Amino acid sequence: MTEFWEENFIDKQEMWGLEPSESAILTKDYFLENSVKNILIPGIGYGRNAQPFIESGITVSGIEISKTAIELAKKHYGTEMTIHHGSVTEMPFDDNKYEGIFCYALVHLLDKNKRTALLKNCYNQLNDGGVMVFTAITKDAPNFGKGERISEDRYELHKGAKIFYYDQEAVKTEFNDFGLFEINKVNENQPMFLIKCRKK
Ligand SMILES: C[S@@+](CC[C@H](N)C(=O)[O-])C[C@H]1O[C@@H](n2cnc3c(N)ncnc32)[C@H](O)[C@@H]1O
Repeated sequence: MTEFWEENFIDKQEMWGLEPSESAILTKDYFLENSVKNILIPGIGYGRNAQPFIESGITVSGIEISKTAIELAKKHYGTEMTIHHGSVTEMPFDDNKYEGIFCYALVHLLDKNKRTALLKNCYNQLNDGGVMVFTAITKDAPNFGKGERISEDRYELHKGAKIFYYDQEAVKTEFNDFGLFEINKVNENQPMFLIKCRKK
């Protein structure tokens, strides 16, 4: 996983452009409505999705497996943002509790145990009442079912990227124990679910 992402960022640099995703903008609006002041972004990449939060005065910390992506994020969005270098499987990286978590297009890259561990680790880093928002690719994606079948609903089309495709049932099964309260559909470059969970 580390090599796949590091090589991609070395090769393609800002591969999704510098504009934030639709999901990041929707989540920024939601967090502002709920007076969220600090958030964690696991899998922050080169920071394009951190930008709308930072611009709105929300303090952002990140976790990212690719050193090159972290360097790009520092270049574009400032050196004062804390980004921990490592895998989300090693969370927590700090003792902080966050009012919000935004995790874009990362959960579906992990195997079942690591997906559950990510949700648990994120939940543990939320304040009581805090909200975590995930985006996850859906079975409506054109590539669903293509490539080598790894396990049920999980396929490797491009070497190094094993993707689990969600339907509503899978979202409920995996997120229910972590305060799931809303599932929306959002069209990015791929069809995604925008999933919200609140810590009780
Ligand atoms: C699909 S990309 C999304 C990036 C970013 N959120 C964006 O859209 O601009 C997934 C990101 O998660 C990072 N990543 C993948 N596996 C990771 C892991 N186990 N721990 C931390 N980061 C990881 C990748 O390097 C990449 O930056």
